[in-house]
Amino acid sequence: MAAIPRELKADGQGILGYRLLGAIASVAFLPGRSEGWSTDRVRQVDRVRPMRVVDTPGLADDVVGLVLEPADGTPTPSWSPGAHLDLTLPSGLRRQYSLCGTDPRSLMVAVRRLGAASTEIHERVREGDVLHTQGPRTAFPFCGEPRVLLVAGGIGITPIVTMARECATRGLDWHLVYAGRTRASMPFLDELVALAGSRLTLLVDEERERYPSVGEVLGWADADTAVYCCGPTPLLDLVRTARGPVRAPLHYERFAPPPVISGREFDVTLARAGLTLKVPADRSALDVVLDAVPDTPYSCRQGFCGTCRVQVCEGAVERRGRAGGPGRPGAREMLLCTDRAEGVGLTVDL
Ligand code: FES
Repeated sequence: MAAIPRELKADGQGILGYRLLGAIASVAFLPGRSEGWSTDRVRQVDRVRPMRVVDTPGLADDVVGLVLEPADGTPTPSWSPGAHLDLTLPSGLRRQYSLCGTDPRSLMVAVRRLGAASTEIHERVREGDVLHTQGPRTAFPFCGEPRVLLVAGGIGITPIVTMARECATRGLDWHLVYAGRTRASMPFLDELVALAGSRLTLLVDEERERYPSVGEVLGWADADTAVYCCGPTPLLDLVRTARGPVRAPLHYERFAPPPVISGREFDVTLARAGLTLKVPADRSALDVVLDAVPDTPYSCRQGFCGTCRVQVCEGAVERRGRAGGPGRPGAREMLLCTDRAEGVGLTVDL
């Protein structure tokens, strides 16, 4: 096991940074990864399906469920644990949310109120509304290994709860570590207490006078235990660092984009706005452009959905994103969230 601090440290925003990181990511998640994962493995689902909101249950403090049924008379699509649905909101914002319901006649997502998209869902989306959806698709698949540790932080429980149900149904040897700020803020808590019993380790900020340790999060996992983790970056970093190289796989899903690796500084010029912005080596062009043009469209922030694709007027592109299907950038296009300039700068049609 790699050397890491024995305990997580507070970041001033709550243990494991749930509040801060949730806000950054609007609690829509980013695609899951396993060791050897690639965005190529996220199969694009191109069909747009209108779905009607048939219920909006409160699932926890500031967490609302959207229960959706096809509005076009088609059957409810099937899905598997770890799958997500792309939602396009009335404002045009597009986000991905994990599916977490149990009724095969409908799809349900759970949305924590943080950021523009989730606030729109909480404040504007009502029963009877029709939303355009794509998917389901599975970027964080559950592989059903014989011994499984599930780790969830905050709203990261949404894909994990479906895996817990699957573990119980299959009779696997499993354990769940579920961390959150308060019990009232933790969706599916009652269900999981009943389902998991002694298989559940609860780490609740307000009930603890110390921070979760590596042992508390990963203590149940031996070298043959597959680990599935979804939550904020500090939790993922803890698990990834502490887990180290072992036989069994680590599968995880991010709330925030991964850091830029081996980036070089470049200028991005927004032709229509008449702005030239410096993109530091450790930031994405999207992050820099959003500072200046906050309504720039984006969704996954990891180069797979194609929402941030823009025309390139001048300059050569270093391609890093892998959006497929209709999101794939053309020869004179780039993905702002991942692609960079090959040279000193790019001019884009923004
Ligand atoms: S935001 Fe999804 S590809 Fe850039």
